[in-house]
Amino acid sequence: MEIDRRAFIASLGGAAAVAAMDHEAKAEALEHYMEEQLDEQVAANQGGQPEKFPTVAEIEAQIETRPFRRGTGSVFTGQRGQNVKKITPMPDQPTLKDFFELRFAPANHVLQSATRAMKTGMSEEIILACLLHDCVLSLIKPDHGWWGAQLFEPYIPEKSAFAIRYHQTLRFFPDEQAGYEYPDQYYRIFGHDYTPPQYIQDTYKMLKNHKWYMEPRLVTVNDLYAFDPNAKVSIEPFTDIIGRHFKQPKEGLGYDNSPSAHMWRTLARPDNPL
Ligand SMILES: [Fe+2]
Ligand SMILES: [Fe+2]
Repeated sequence: MEIDRRAFIASLGGAAAVAAMDHEAKAEALEHYMEEQLDEQVAANQGGQPEKFPTVAEIEAQIETRPFRRGTGSVFTGQRGQNVKKITPMPDQPTLKDFFELRFAPANHVLQSATRAMKTGMSEEIILACLLHDCVLSLIKPDHGWWGAQLFEPYIPEKSAFAIRYHQTLRFFPDEQAGYEYPDQYYRIFGHDYTPPQYIQDTYKMLKNHKWYMEPRLVTVNDLYAFDPNAKVSIEPFTDIIGRHFKQPKEGLGYDNSPSAHMWRTLARPDNPL
């Protein structure tokens, strides 16, 4: 597959941003980029034919074709069956920015979502929620709304944590008025005949009548699946919002005895055997 180097470098924020990335981050960025390009090519090759989405049974049949489970966090798996690489150690008192650079990278998806939230005039709590909403996928994937909220909860406003926790549920339920459609990506990854389990349905029922319904809804509205190769994204535009709303512990994330400190430590040292 041919890579447009210029578009790829631009997608990462330019040559300087690429130069600052370590090997691992570059490899992962390239991997994501190629996946997106591949999806686009597949779509284009179908020449206007509607895409054929897999069934739940077809997706389930793939389970035993992989050496890892789909729910494994991305820091724990090699790319495309490759061996994993040595990971850059975290500084002694790691900050959110350090985790963005060394564990959540390339983080294009969340950076693009937060950029969009900023452009569409969202509140700072929602911009922050968009910036953090899928970061926990580095650690674990199933129930990432709940895991993600738990990871960040000690450090962020209650509304942002609420938005992160429940965006996962609202992703399954369209809301035309809010401008949110069921994503094609979900037909692709869950199967076109997938029905969310009972606890997700129950959570949706609870959310519909909740005074904060719009908080997670706005995360879904700004949640982008289309990867824009020309979008320049970086964490810099969010420095002020992080400074105002993210309570960075002075001991560093992982060492402040918060209820989620162990989760940060696991992210910091994914090679520890116990
Ligand atoms: Fe998500
Ligand atoms: Fe997302």
